[in-house]
Amino acid sequence: MSKTISGFSKLSKSKKIDWIVSTYFANQEHTKTILKQYWNSNEQLQQLHDEFIENTITNYYLPLGVAPNFLINDIMYTIPMAIEESSVVAAASKAAKFWLERGGFKTTVISTTKIGQVHFMFHGEPSHLKAYFKAIKPQLLQAVKPLSKNMEKRGGGILDIELRDKTAAIANYYQLHVSFETADAMGANFINSCLEQFAKTFKAEALNFEGFTTKEQQIEIVMSILSNYVPDCLVRAEVSCKVEELTENKSIPAEEFAKKFVQAVNIAEIEPFRAVTHNKGIMNGIDAVVLATGNDFRAVEAGVHAYASRNGTYSSLSHAKIEDGIFTFWMEIPLALGTVGGLTNLHPLVKLSLEMLHKPSAKELMQIVAVAGLAQNFGALRSLTTTGIQEGHMKMHLMNILNQFEANAEEKATLIHHFKTHTVSHSAVVEAIEKLRQ
Ligand code: MEV
Repeated sequence: MSKTISGFSKLSKSKKIDWIVSTYFANQEHTKTILKQYWNSNEQLQQLHDEFIENTITNYYLPLGVAPNFLINDIMYTIPMAIEESSVVAAASKAAKFWLERGGFKTTVISTTKIGQVHFMFHGEPSHLKAYFKAIKPQLLQAVKPLSKNMEKRGGGILDIELRDKTAAIANYYQLHVSFETADAMGANFINSCLEQFAKTFKAEALNFEGFTTKEQQIEIVMSILSNYVPDCLVRAEVSCKVEELTENKSIPAEEFAKKFVQAVNIAEIEPFRAVTHNKGIMNGIDAVVLATGNDFRAVEAGVHAYASRNGTYSSLSHAKIEDGIFTFWMEIPLALGTVGGLTNLHPLVKLSLEMLHKPSAKELMQIVAVAGLAQNFGALRSLTTTGIQEGHMKMHLMNILNQFEANAEEKATLIHHFKTHTVSHSAVVEAIEKLRQ
């Protein structure tokens, strides 16, 4: 059977499902039942989700969990997290509680500048281009006034436009490198709209510029797009306490734990194989909150990992030290987030998540998200340097294995009790289920 189809997006939802089901599935009725099980019975709500993207056939659920007891700059938060990995919310909650008793998390927003670029080619004399840019700059800013007016009212706008000569890397390649402040919006649409207007005006006005005479001297726009690399949209999160207060894990003295913890961070600072996993643990916390608050986790991921490589080698985002008997653990991380616009006004669960966080500004959300990342990293390193990760991880994963074997409530209760005192592994759980069912 042919697997290509034209005009798919124009079909009704049920016709789309019919095509998918008859093309790819052996048990068509069963497949349809599953797809429909995930539809929302509230038609309006379902339509809202259908219309987020094209070709929606059903909803894809992730659990929305909460991690309470986060003290951030002396304010208490319960942090919403949308994530499927079983141990993440538990680890965040545990780290929150640990630091609650030791003064909580301290955060500061270092900067909030975002970048966008118009990439273009110019074959003429560089000094003519410079003269044109100087002459046209006020007009460029004027041309985006209808777009930037509202943003300016909210404290944002265009901070600067620079002409950048990139001809050493690619012949005839230049950029308009634009910096933006987007206040409480993530700002992608605002930035891209401004850039496209800059490109249009920049190209069109060049035709009238007296310094440009020949056709080769005209501007060829390649593309206009924001950058997800935001090294100047930076937030810092930190925890610290006396070394002797690092006592929670009874299996290891505080001084030894502090030393091992710093060693683990130092390893991630110099060893990319470890740094990637170390930072992945940070992103477990970050992505979960970014997703719960309706932000773009792909943008955040891309920007964060680029930042982790900013010195030429991929390295740890977090750092730790012991100085004068004080243990300090901190992280600076670029986060371009919004609390207005996009999904934040649309998705009912996103609205609830933001309300749970005291309706934060974008700057406040940057601080909360950074804390979730640092807490997650603390939890992972604490386990790794003491008991090992599998103990806690497999305990949390137990329920997934039980569900895989369709354990009923009674079986679950018995086995959860059993594994309180036995090591969880896939085979040990399978064995225990089989024994119970004999
Ligand atoms: C697992 O999702 C994350 C960890 O591997 C992070 C780390 O190793 O630091 C536990």
